[in-house]
Amino acid sequence: MKGVILAGGTGSRLYPLTRVTNKHLLPVFDRPMIFYPLQALINAGITDILVVTGGQNAGEFLRLLGNGKDFGLKHVNYTYQEGEGGIADALRMAEHFAGEQPICVALGDNIIEKNIIAACETFRRQAAGAHIVLKEVPDPERFGVPVFEGDRIVRVEEKPKKPRSRYAVTGFYMYDARVFDRIRAVKPSGRGELEITDVNNLYLADGLMTYSILDGWWTDAGTFESLLRANNLVAQTGANQVGPSAVTGSADPRVGRAAE
Ligand code: G1P
Repeated sequence: MKGVILAGGTGSRLYPLTRVTNKHLLPVFDRPMIFYPLQALINAGITDILVVTGGQNAGEFLRLLGNGKDFGLKHVNYTYQEGEGGIADALRMAEHFAGEQPICVALGDNIIEKNIIAACETFRRQAAGAHIVLKEVPDPERFGVPVFEGDRIVRVEEKPKKPRSRYAVTGFYMYDARVFDRIRAVKPSGRGELEITDVNNLYLADGLMTYSILDGWWTDAGTFESLLRANNLVAQTGANQVGPSAVTGSADPRVGRAAE
C-alpha cells in the first residue's frame, strides 16, 4: 500500500500564523506538524509516500523532508496542487503516483497517540473498497460524522449541526485504486470544494466501506484550539506510539515520538 499526505490548503483558520508559511510546517511541540502523520504512515509499514502541497511555500517541504533520510526512507515523492479545491481535489493529484495500488491517505494536520496498524491490516484483508478510522470526540459537529444503523455506517455527514453520533471520521483514509473514478463523480459542495465525505459516501452506497475505531487520542491541528490541544497532547504523552511502549507506558515521555 502506498501513502499520500495532503498538506496543501491556505490554513485560513490559523491566520495570521499561516500568512507566510504552510499550516503543516507549523510547530507542534518540538516538531513540524507534518512529521506526525508522516511517522504514522511509516509506523504502519508504508514507505512509498507522496506529499501533496500547494500555495506559496511548497518548496519548504523539500528542504524540510528531503528524501526522508531522517525517517529511514530512501525517497519521498512530491506533487503540487494548483488552487484550492478541497481534500478530494488534492487527492486527485495522487492518481498517477498510485497507479493500480491501494493508498492510505493522511491529512497533514492529523496527529495520533498510537498507530493505525490495525486499521491497515483490516483494509489489507479487503479485496476492494475503502476503510475509515473513527474516534469518539466531544465536538463531532466540527468533523465528518458517521450515521449508524446498528453497527453499520449508512452515511457520513460533513460538519452536521445535529451530529447523529459521537464519532468523528479522522483524517486517515484507505482506498482502492477506484477512488479516482469516484472523485470524478463528485460535485463541488456548498463551500465550492470536492469533499472527501462525498467520496466516502459513494463507497458506503456501494457497500464497500469498512471502519475501525482508533485507540489512543486523536486530534487535528487546524484551528487555534486544536493546535494548542495538539501541542499539549504531544508534550504530555508523545505521539505515534507503537509496540510495547504503547501498552506498558514509559517513564520517558519521548518514547515512541515521531522520528526518534
Ligand atoms: C476534514 C474533513 C472531515 C474530517 C476532518 C478530520 O475537515 O472534511 O470530514 O473529519 O478533516 O481532520 P477539515 O479539517 O477540512 O475541516
